Amino acid sequence: MPEDWTSWLESRARVRQLRGFQRTDTSRGLLMDLASNDYLGLSRHPEVQQAVTEAVGTYGAGATASRVATGTLGIHRELEQALSTYSGREKALVFSSGYMANLGLLQALGGPGSLFILDAHAHASLIDGARLSGAQVRMAGHNDPEVIQRLLRENFQEQTPRPRVAVVVESIYSLLGDAAPLARIAELCAEYNALLVIDEAHSLAATERGSAVCAAGLSSATHVLVTATLSKALGAQGGAVLFGGPNAGALREHLVNTSRSFLFDTALAPASAGAALKALELATSHRLNNLARNTDLVYETLSGNSGLRGLIEPGAGAVHSVRMPSADAAMRVTAALREKGIAVACFRPPSVPDGISRIRITAHAHHQPEELVTALQTVARTITEEPV
Ligand SMILES: Cc1ncc(COP(=O)(O)O)c(C=O)c1O
Repeated sequence: MPEDWTSWLESRARVRQLRGFQRTDTSRGLLMDLASNDYLGLSRHPEVQQAVTEAVGTYGAGATASRVATGTLGIHRELEQALSTYSGREKALVFSSGYMANLGLLQALGGPGSLFILDAHAHASLIDGARLSGAQVRMAGHNDPEVIQRLLRENFQEQTPRPRVAVVVESIYSLLGDAAPLARIAELCAEYNALLVIDEAHSLAATERGSAVCAAGLSSATHVLVTATLSKALGAQGGAVLFGGPNAGALREHLVNTSRSFLFDTALAPASAGAALKALELATSHRLNNLARNTDLVYETLSGNSGLRGLIEPGAGAVHSVRMPSADAAMRVTAALREKGIAVACFRPPSVPDGISRIRITAHAHHQPEELVTALQTVARTITEEPV
């Protein structure tokens, strides 16, 4: 490798080490999982594994082409139908990942005549899609409908307002696990004739009624577009855009024809489609209730520890965060817990928009209350023993 590149790589690695931002992709083995997004524990469910085998047997290991070439398979259609039914939306379009769904949707809606207003905590895939789209992009303070309203009003008052406006939020934010005030934001969007794009990555099959959009009474709202991932609560892989109202068909067709991450990407693998299809069947209210019970247990157990008082940020979904004094402290606690057989997530810059490092604890439906409480007590002890 040329010298310039080598020294540049070395200097980037040194900076990461110094700041405590270094990450690895090493395997974590089988631990008590308080970290993954497999909220319902479906990724290893025997019926899901059986569905994977059957899908591969019927359709092969890969889709072998883009959806618009020969890659559209019967199982994609079945999955889209099942997603529509589950979410109460008119139509669905599946992508090879949630990242691709967000990227492809925003890119396809963008262009010079559009304005995207993004929440400051929006996922990287939404930010990248907005940037790629050529739309004007404005960032709104996190969960602040007043700022959204001001930005909508400002566009409206421009001499040549952008005619196509979309507000882009997550229903449950991936970092803090807090909920967006969806009903209020939807109201503002309707008032200013804007689309509302809601990323349900952390709420589809993981919150009350299986969808925050549904719980907010927005399933059939015509100005709402939903994106989702199949890789979290459904334990599979893939993403989707879910359309509602009379324009659902036109919007879907627009994406099929213009969304680059749909057109120029090999279609979702049959194994993933089969897994997601079965997982949707298994995402029953019984499992959602167990998830809600364990989510409450996480918060009650951690907040019951006096050393953690004031440091816990309760989530609206299955994740709760504990604020840490530094990235180093967060990493030390994560490593110490791994030694004790417990996996927690370590969040630190640059994946924290406010610069605060955190330990994120995720509840799962399949944990037994007793084993969960024991693990949480170890988590609490390990954090409080960490020197500040
Ligand atoms: C809010 C949000 N949107 C989209 C994605 C991307 O989904 P996927 O992992 O399926 O690409 C993620 C995953 O981290 C996410 O948290």
